[in-house]
Amino acid sequence: MEEKLSRNAFLKSLGFKGASLIAVYCAIPVLSSCINEPSPNDPGAGGSGTDFTLDLNDAAYSKLNTVGKYVVANRIVVARISSTTFAAVTQVCSHEGRVKVIYQNAEFYCTEHGAKFDVNGRGLNSNGKNGLTVYMTALNGNLLRVFS
Ligand code: FES
Repeated sequence: MEEKLSRNAFLKSLGFKGASLIAVYCAIPVLSSCINEPSPNDPGAGGSGTDFTLDLNDAAYSKLNTVGKYVVANRIVVARISSTTFAAVTQVCSHEGRVKVIYQNAEFYCTEHGAKFDVNGRGLNSNGKNGLTVYMTALNGNLLRVFS
């Protein structure tokens, strides 16, 4: 009897240690998944490492040959704002983070709650007061470079 009790105590002790070990092992994947989340520098996320080129002869981007039109690439809204100039801003709205920014009527506009931004990313109403991240553009022949 005495031996059985001490075995139970031993198992409880092991169980407690096992749970502690599991907690340690579970914490490691959680930490590594945080590290592996897309960073703002991920080009696909439109971060500070952004640098890509659009071919305006490509059907997917040929709308940019027309003033007032826009395309979305890599979560960046690229608009033709005049015969010689473009504007590019993040598609992610600064109001509540919805990926719903478009270009219309010579300004950037979020279709979720109506935030408005000028072509330099500055907010034009209360929902747009935090502005938008803007990107630089450079046209070389038919190639439009978008970069930060
Ligand atoms: S998320 Fe864009 S206006 Fe609210």
